[in-house]
Amino acid sequence: MKVLVIGKGGREHALVWKLAQSPRAKQVFCAPGNAGTALDGVNVPIEATDVDKLVRFAQKEKIDLTVVGPEDALALGIVDAFRARGLRIFGPNKEAARIESSKVFAKQLMRHADVPTAEFRACDHPEPARIYIQSREYPVVVKADGLTAGKGAIVCSSQAEALEAVQRIMVRDEFGPKAGRQVVIEKRLEGPELSILALVSGRTIIPLEPTQDHKQAGDNDTGPNTGGMGAYCPAPLATPAFLQEIETHVLVPTVHALKRGRRPFQGILYAGIMATNQGLRVLEFNCRFGDPETQPLLMRLRTDLLELLLAAVEERLDELPEGGLDWDPRPAVCVVMASQGYPGTYEKGFAIKGLDQAAKLPDVKVFHAGTRQDNDRILTDGGRVLGVTALGDTLAQAKKNAYKAVACINFFGAFYRKDIADKALVEIVPPVTIMSE
Ligand code: AMP
Ligand code: GLY
Repeated sequence: MKVLVIGKGGREHALVWKLAQSPRAKQVFCAPGNAGTALDGVNVPIEATDVDKLVRFAQKEKIDLTVVGPEDALALGIVDAFRARGLRIFGPNKEAARIESSKVFAKQLMRHADVPTAEFRACDHPEPARIYIQSREYPVVVKADGLTAGKGAIVCSSQAEALEAVQRIMVRDEFGPKAGRQVVIEKRLEGPELSILALVSGRTIIPLEPTQDHKQAGDNDTGPNTGGMGAYCPAPLATPAFLQEIETHVLVPTVHALKRGRRPFQGILYAGIMATNQGLRVLEFNCRFGDPETQPLLMRLRTDLLELLLAAVEERLDELPEGGLDWDPRPAVCVVMASQGYPGTYEKGFAIKGLDQAAKLPDVKVFHAGTRQDNDRILTDGGRVLGVTALGDTLAQAKKNAYKAVACINFFGAFYRKDIADKALVEIVPPVTIMSE
């Protein structure tokens, strides 16, 4: 089979690496890919949002399955375009992808389906937003409605800050005119976060192992929010009882509500969950694999990913063998190495050294994100550069193995968090009670 992965980050490298391990995969292409996807697959110089060109490539190469990484391609309707030409593709169509591409849509769906989430108001003009802001207790979070690469949620500790956030999003269009046409204003919640990714197709929902991301740039969750500085899997915060609660109160009602609204979801439904003192709350939904959550997840997945995604596309997930997916029992940790300045401005083009040495370590895989090949050198080419991922007999050992590999690698201005997975190693898991708001 010929497979095409769309995107160029660490998530896509992990997908290419895993899909290429399937005995049925003859060739795995990645568009546009990075230096790592070129090692495990074949890069195609087409941007993820160039839907027409991607369709033409898939037709010409007779691609059997396309797997979409980033949300912007899904929000553009890449799945609709492929399906219209009879091409098999894994991911939600444009309408179902609204669960991520419109926060107002997602919040309203949660309200109607009784999915626990922060109390909120959606506004499509600055004036009602300002009036609502005056009636609130602080802190609140003001969110742009549309896609903003994770930057459109502004935590505000006072009325003045919330008014300024409305100016930035709706008046000055700092996140683009479309993303800022509406805002969601919601209560700021507190508690540890979890990423629950579920494979969804037809009536079947298969939750994958729970992971935890590290969103802030600095150790102990300090500094600005990023796309994610590291992740580990499984997350012990997600006890079997808690996972059952998430399935019953979040995944099932959300998937049913999408179906009832004639937007049946097929793909990965990612719920960003916060375990608050009042019970679980959904912070956000994504309509795709998480980055960097996918790196430790796929490091542990033993089931053939190509078979699994094909079964989802063909609505055959219910035929999977009893017992579901096969996971390596060993935990995995992924440490992101980033460019100095990320998530703000940063320079690119620095040579990365030590990749071969790191690759020789047992149970380690270095997933590339912002990298590119330049003759015989590999150069930095983005904010998040590498996702250094390792397995270990315990979570502490997986962390040790990952940081041992990180220590082999260097490039000018490299920075990374030193505390990935510490939350699971040092923190006492708080009790979580059933929600009510
Ligand atoms: P979002 O833009 O909705 O994807 O949120 C991005 C990140 O902002 C989340 O992963 C949380 O870390 C944080 N966040 C979002 N909403 C809230 C909230 N209501 N309370 C606290 N933190 C939040
Ligand atoms: N790691 C967060 C995300 O993929 O959106």
